Amino acid sequence: MTTSTDDVIGSGRVAVVTGAASGIGRALAEAFAAAGSAVVVADLDGIEAEVVAASIRAAGGEAEAMQVDVADAAAVDRLAATTLERFGRVDVLCNNAGVSTFNLLRDQTLDDWRWVFDVNLWGVIHGLHTFVPIMRDQGTPAHIVNTASIAGLLSGVAFIGPYAATKVAVVSMSETLAQEFAIDQLPIGVSVLCPSSVDTRVMESERGRPSALGVEHRTDIAESVRMAIRDSFTGPSGLTPAAVADRVLDAIRAGRFWIITHPGERSVAEARFTDILANFPLNH
Ligand SMILES: NC(=O)c1ccc[n+]([C@@H]2O[C@H](COP(=O)([O-])OP(=O)(O)OC[C@H]3O[C@@H](n4cnc5c(N)ncnc54)[C@H](O)[C@@H]3O)[C@@H](O)[C@H]2O)c1
Repeated sequence: MTTSTDDVIGSGRVAVVTGAASGIGRALAEAFAAAGSAVVVADLDGIEAEVVAASIRAAGGEAEAMQVDVADAAAVDRLAATTLERFGRVDVLCNNAGVSTFNLLRDQTLDDWRWVFDVNLWGVIHGLHTFVPIMRDQGTPAHIVNTASIAGLLSGVAFIGPYAATKVAVVSMSETLAQEFAIDQLPIGVSVLCPSSVDTRVMESERGRPSALGVEHRTDIAESVRMAIRDSFTGPSGLTPAAVADRVLDAIRAGRFWIITHPGERSVAEARFTDILANFPLNH
């Protein structure tokens, strides 16, 4: 593949993906590598991250694994330092790592909130805080993809209150970034990924919960909703991580901000915005 100076994907380019040991992140890492980019496979699970990096290398790609807790600002700084040491630049950052709890809001503990916010919100903040100055100083085109969720557009979603709140915030931060890069006339593109059901291990995200934040005690009804959502991942409305990754690479190349993967929730989003619009006063 040939790479023009404007391409952020391809030979001589570098993509950093968090949460890249599994699911959507793994598929993103593999797709960037297949397109010729060198990839940094960053994940809390360093062993699985190395498995992914090794399989990319075995397929002829360039990849480096790194154990990183995105909730830890210093660890994200180390991720950037290692990326620059190893590859000398960063062209694409995917802030993708994410976790969820499952319970009605009244049953979510403070530690449930803390864990989900630490990873999904602070993880993205750390990624932006560390990598945006690097991209800015590089002065070449770059792109940031933040993984939100369709929950970031629907906003209120029963049983995943903390998760939905972080994903609304990720959508908001992405929109702010896009506006501010335009104000500063920086050649950095932004996309926000808003998937619905994708066949990954997100329903087992408690595997990475720090023991200091305790364990989750799901009610029976929360557990049955969790199982139903998990089943939807492999049902007719489910997508594979690879299909989602293809859409992300297409969106980066096209400079598209919104990456909405499923048509199914359109009517729910429409109903929400119709209700909001209906409540705007005509004058004050
Ligand atoms: N699967 C879906 O249906 C779906 C839908 C909407 C949004 N998402 C979002 O997609 C993203 C990827 O999730 P997935 O579905 O591929 O799940 P997954 O569980 O398969 O992968 C998530 C990865 O993130 C890693 N991770 C967890 N905590 C971390 C931390 N503190 N630091 C670094 N890495 C950490 C995990 O080890 C795992 O490898 C998440 O942000 C999730 O919220 C998924």
